[in-house]
Amino acid sequence: MDKFFMVSFFGLLIAAHAVAGNMVYDNIAMLGEFENLDIEEENESELFEVPSWTSERGGKVLVNVDSFGAAGDGVSDDTQAFVDAWNTACSTPKSVFLVPPGRRYLVNATRFKGPCADKLVVQIDGTIVAPAEPDNWDPKLPRIWLDFSKLNGVLFQGGGVIDGSGSKWWASSCKKNKSNPCRGAPTAITIDSSSAVKVRGLTIQNSQQMHFVISRSDTVRVSQVLVSAPEDSPNTDGIHITESTNVVLQDCKIGTGDDCVSIVNGSSSIKMKRIFCGPGHGISIGSLGKDNSTGIVTKVVLDTAYLRETTNGLRIKTWQGGSGYVCGVRFENVRMEDVANPIIIDQFYCDSPTACHNQTSAVKISQIMYRNISGTTKSEKAMKFACSDTVPCSNIVLSNVNLEKKDGSVETYCNSAQGFGYGIVHPSADCLSSNDKDAALAESIRDDIIHTEL
Ligand SMILES: *[C@@H]1O[C@H](CO)[C@@H](O)[C@H](O)[C@H]1NC(C)=O
Ligand SMILES: *[C@@H]1O[C@H](CO)[C@@H](O)[C@H](O)[C@H]1NC(C)=O
Ligand SMILES: *[C@@H]1O[C@H](CO)[C@@H](O)[C@H](O)[C@H]1NC(C)=O
Ligand SMILES: *[C@@H]1O[C@H](CO)[C@@H](O)[C@H](O)[C@H]1NC(C)=O
Ligand SMILES: *[C@@H]1O[C@H](CO)[C@@H](O)[C@H](O)[C@H]1NC(C)=O
Ligand SMILES: *[C@@H]1O[C@H](CO)[C@@H](O)[C@H](O)[C@H]1NC(C)=O
Ligand SMILES: *[C@@H]1O[C@H](CO)[C@@H](O)[C@H](O)[C@H]1NC(C)=O
Repeated sequence: MDKFFMVSFFGLLIAAHAVAGNMVYDNIAMLGEFENLDIEEENESELFEVPSWTSERGGKVLVNVDSFGAAGDGVSDDTQAFVDAWNTACSTPKSVFLVPPGRRYLVNATRFKGPCADKLVVQIDGTIVAPAEPDNWDPKLPRIWLDFSKLNGVLFQGGGVIDGSGSKWWASSCKKNKSNPCRGAPTAITIDSSSAVKVRGLTIQNSQQMHFVISRSDTVRVSQVLVSAPEDSPNTDGIHITESTNVVLQDCKIGTGDDCVSIVNGSSSIKMKRIFCGPGHGISIGSLGKDNSTGIVTKVVLDTAYLRETTNGLRIKTWQGGSGYVCGVRFENVRMEDVANPIIIDQFYCDSPTACHNQTSAVKISQIMYRNISGTTKSEKAMKFACSDTVPCSNIVLSNVNLEKKDGSVETYCNSAQGFGYGIVHPSADCLSSNDKDAALAESIRDDIIHTEL
């Protein structure tokens, strides 16, 4: 259906091209780019054959944390047992680092370093909990809890739970109480400087701050991961991707107090497929450009998502004064229910106790496509393209967007945003400024669609 639509759409573009002459070459090239954004998904049957690791089999070497003295009572400190088991598993080919089911392991902030011997599996079936008291956190590791780095070809899986015991951290956040100092808190699980890592089936909950960070990594596949924290827990992003390429998130359900997914600087070829988000702040690219920094994000696809009662839907957020660019993003097949800002580009993002001034420099945003997006909005401004006066957004394309408000009308806000729509676009996005060639293109597509439908 979709393929057919695109084929006929390109047919129309060629027709449009014949009508409008070579003025539309740029736009054809641009829309073609959107189709080239596809990134391989996981082949489930091939990659995740999951026997239960209760006994040795298939030449695997079982490394059970219990054999290294872990108590699993939720009270004793099992950190040393985890470190010892990791050292053994990591240095043994084909080993399975096992956290057995039915028990709770209290583990402190720890770095689990690679590289490891071939074919390591990290099988988490039990619950791993963090110490609850921020005052006793290791001052040398203020931003991590379970930190995995320099891995290559490692599979994390299991039905287990990673629980950050975050409630005291949330209470001590400056977002909760302005008299608290603003300081960072640990990330529950980090995959850093790694490649060919797969994560499947885990539950990550109640993190101190971000739940799952993928940083400086290449080729990461995350599927069937559940992330959960209360709606009012501050800065508890679900999955945060930074300086990473070729990452696929699929079949994940995320509900937290911040972004369900956030994708920031240095990330490219990121695909999200079948994502459930809510509560939370939506699916975000950014923030980028804070403190005059350079932010670059390219090639991002979200295909099939359901967002429910989130404060934002599909968001791109950048600070004034930054540089760099966001280019080549496709959001498609998204259903929203009671979302406050369903479609939003905000180049005036300011998550700061002090006011942010407008500057001449900004992160450039271009080639952003929204296709088959529907649902209900809580705010009147169902679509908001708030772009910098000096660095306008360009080539925003909307196709088959239908956002309604249960009790009232909806509208689109634009500042310094250029682009066009085709098919149904509700609320209308006429405020997107078009140059002449866009107008000619959009007009001829509209005509052709009408003729085709007749
Ligand atoms: C996935 O892997 C299975 C088993 O190897 C194979 O039969 C199937 O064709 C693959 N599917 C795709 C979409 O590659
Ligand atoms: C964790 O580390 C901190 C700081 O090094 C230490 O005070 C504490 O006893 C350790 N264990 C637990 C369970 O918190
Ligand atoms: C905020 O923190 C201050 C100082 O720790 C405390 O006295 C106050 O009761 C807190 N306010 C709330 C609303 O928790
Ligand atoms: C942005 O990402 C690039 C590429 O990984 C990196 O070299 C640069 O230091 C990052 N910039 C910031 C401000 O983090
Ligand atoms: C960012 O650049 C502006 C303009 O040059 C300058 O006024 C401001 O102090 C800079 N901010 C930071 C955090 O470096
Ligand atoms: C549009 O998106 C919705 C929600 O994901 C999906 O159910 C529907 O099949 C999509 N329609 C088309 C024509 O792809
Ligand atoms: C920054 O510029 C935008 C767009 O022109 C404007 O709406 C906003 O009020 C300005 N903000 C400040 C703090 O001047």
